[in-house]
Amino acid sequence: MKNHFLVLPLLFLIFSCSESVDSKNPLVDFNSSPNEWLLHGRTYAEERHSPLDQINTSNVDQIGLSWSFETGTNRGHETTPIVKDGVMFITAPWSVVHALDAKTGDLLWTHDPQVERAWANNACCDVVNRGVALYENSIFFGTLDGRLISLDKDTGNENWSILTIDKSWPYTITGAPRIVKGNVIIGNGGGEFGVRGYVTAYDVDSGDELWRFYTVPGNPNEPFESPEMEIAAKTWSGGKWWEYGGGGTVWDSMAYDPVLDTLYIGTGNGSPWNRYVRSPGGGDNLYLSSIVALDPDTGDYKWHYQTTPGDSWDYTATQHMILADLEINGQIRKVIMQAPKNGFFYVIDRTNGELISAENYVPINWATHVDMETGRPIENPANNYFNTPALTTPGPLGGHNWQPMAFNPDTGLVYIPAQEMLFVYSHDKDFKYNRKTWNTGQQVEMTYLPKNPDELAMVDKATFGYLLAWDPVAQKEVWREQYQRPWSGGLLSTAGDLVLQGTSDGRFIAFDAASGEMLWSVDTGQGIIAPPITYMIDEEQYIAVQVGYGGAYALAGAFPSANKNPAQNGRMLVFKLGGEKMSPPVQSIAKVNPVVPSMTTDALTIARGEYEYHEHCQFCHGAGVIGGGVIPDLRYLDEVGHKTFLGVILGGMHSEKGMASFKDVLSLEQANQIQAYIISQAKLTGVTQEAAED
Ligand code: HEC
Repeated sequence: MKNHFLVLPLLFLIFSCSESVDSKNPLVDFNSSPNEWLLHGRTYAEERHSPLDQINTSNVDQIGLSWSFETGTNRGHETTPIVKDGVMFITAPWSVVHALDAKTGDLLWTHDPQVERAWANNACCDVVNRGVALYENSIFFGTLDGRLISLDKDTGNENWSILTIDKSWPYTITGAPRIVKGNVIIGNGGGEFGVRGYVTAYDVDSGDELWRFYTVPGNPNEPFESPEMEIAAKTWSGGKWWEYGGGGTVWDSMAYDPVLDTLYIGTGNGSPWNRYVRSPGGGDNLYLSSIVALDPDTGDYKWHYQTTPGDSWDYTATQHMILADLEINGQIRKVIMQAPKNGFFYVIDRTNGELISAENYVPINWATHVDMETGRPIENPANNYFNTPALTTPGPLGGHNWQPMAFNPDTGLVYIPAQEMLFVYSHDKDFKYNRKTWNTGQQVEMTYLPKNPDELAMVDKATFGYLLAWDPVAQKEVWREQYQRPWSGGLLSTAGDLVLQGTSDGRFIAFDAASGEMLWSVDTGQGIIAPPITYMIDEEQYIAVQVGYGGAYALAGAFPSANKNPAQNGRMLVFKLGGEKMSPPVQSIAKVNPVVPSMTTDALTIARGEYEYHEHCQFCHGAGVIGGGVIPDLRYLDEVGHKTFLGVILGGMHSEKGMASFKDVLSLEQANQIQAYIISQAKLTGVTQEAAED
């Protein structure tokens, strides 16, 4: 299957980064297929820019709904559809795959890999999946519980399925595989719990493992897997990081340059986040938070650029990477661009990893700037949290998260789904590792949790997002569209001079790519995080987006106002010129304030409950028990809910719905403490009908 790659015809093309030919795989000759969406980022360069222009600035206000398809679940929807030969392949929560007629929306087949529901307890950021990959007659996808599966694209029948992880560690897969020269490449996540990051290539036909690249060193007392691991191990010191995994997971972004024959992977944060726990003797901790260039045939290391040396903030460099050829100081440079969580926009020479420029695209206070001599950020000592908690921006959700950017070669602009959120980092001096829970090495700073509706409103106000049009050559903002809420969707750019984005407040919007003028908008009634795509069938252009809110922010730190109709199932919405006007969205049903039971308790019990809640529950039910709407807001538990409380959290009553039992990690006493804390939060934040007497 491999090494059928033809590079010759491309040598004549100067702007060749987005060209590709793979004789074995006509799919990747995407420019002969402008009407389809064949690869995750449409091209190997991952621009997410389509040459289609039937829908353009002059007529986009005449598009309407062509068809829709409901996925049957309300958890986070993050798919990038793949469209080939009139068929659309999408993923839905719990790693379910659907094949749809791309013109009518008719369901052709569904494949449900039956993900173990209890595995959701290992997922930091919802039971999401970001899409499939297609190669010849097969499609490939990862499952939340660590499998890589190949299906027959016409029937949905399984060709093969292999386990890519050691299940004694809390790994999850949410990212889309990439296929380069007959190798299916897949990474995984789990850095919040503690795992060792790696990326693996498997043979498309057999599923045989071809190579694996670890992103961080294992136990240095054991033989290293590669020379790079030996080099990397010298940049870790004083701790036993391998016992916690070390982190560096490759959970989303990759890109490929067929001319340089180089695969680029983005690596994640440290496990634990806190470097004083992970590597107390200091060091850069390679290859965390880095862009790493690899040989796609062998997995051999070529170069790396580390965005956040010694990461201590969950500043992943797994964010979307785009390849482009840009004119910089009179020279055409082959660049790779990334806006990772840490707030800097990087332009890097993708032939050798040399930094060309870096400027912050959102306000930051953890560093002052990136030094151009060394290519390293200069950390702000005032924000070091070793001794004192530090209010920091960006927080762990980043100035930009996984939601893909887009690059329009005509405007020369990169469109970034940017956001601003604060976070208090605090060194947990008594850190204890427990593989069944989050291990961030952070002390939850209770004093900073909003304790009443006024404080809540203040945090709410400091938390927002915007669509940023960014000039990567001048490294500056060109225009922005401000949103009240963060965590909006990924982006699509088209040759119709359009930029399209779904928002967390449920709008699907088309902008003029050059000016940022809003040209069209529809209220879909559901928060959107997925990126749109476009394709053409029978001379008609379609624009598709998956709607349905969820993911890390919606679960762990959201505000209910962010999400409309959270109980409604996610949908694919597909638009075209002359389509139907969408009916006004269903209004959310106002929640009834419950009467909570009285419970004999004291301040210490509540404080303990607060601690345990934030150890075990917050990443699904929300910090301070303020739910984002997707998963039940526990402040609204009524008397019946409280009666069955122990049955749910220790007895596993709702385990089939993704609420597994915590009996292995919580004692009865701790469960009672959590319940007392939930009741106290319901009262403090004013959602109870009347406070029951304690
Ligand atoms: C991995 C995500 C996740 C974690 C972690 C989690 N939950 Fe849940 N929880 C859920 C989901 C999903 C549901 C909804 C299940 C359903 O639809 O019935 C739920 C439901 C519940 C319910 C029932 C709510 C109702 O309206 O009836 C209770 C009570 C609950 N969780 C308590 C907790 C507590 C306490 C913790 C921490 C010890 C916790 N959960 C941790 C995902 C999670």
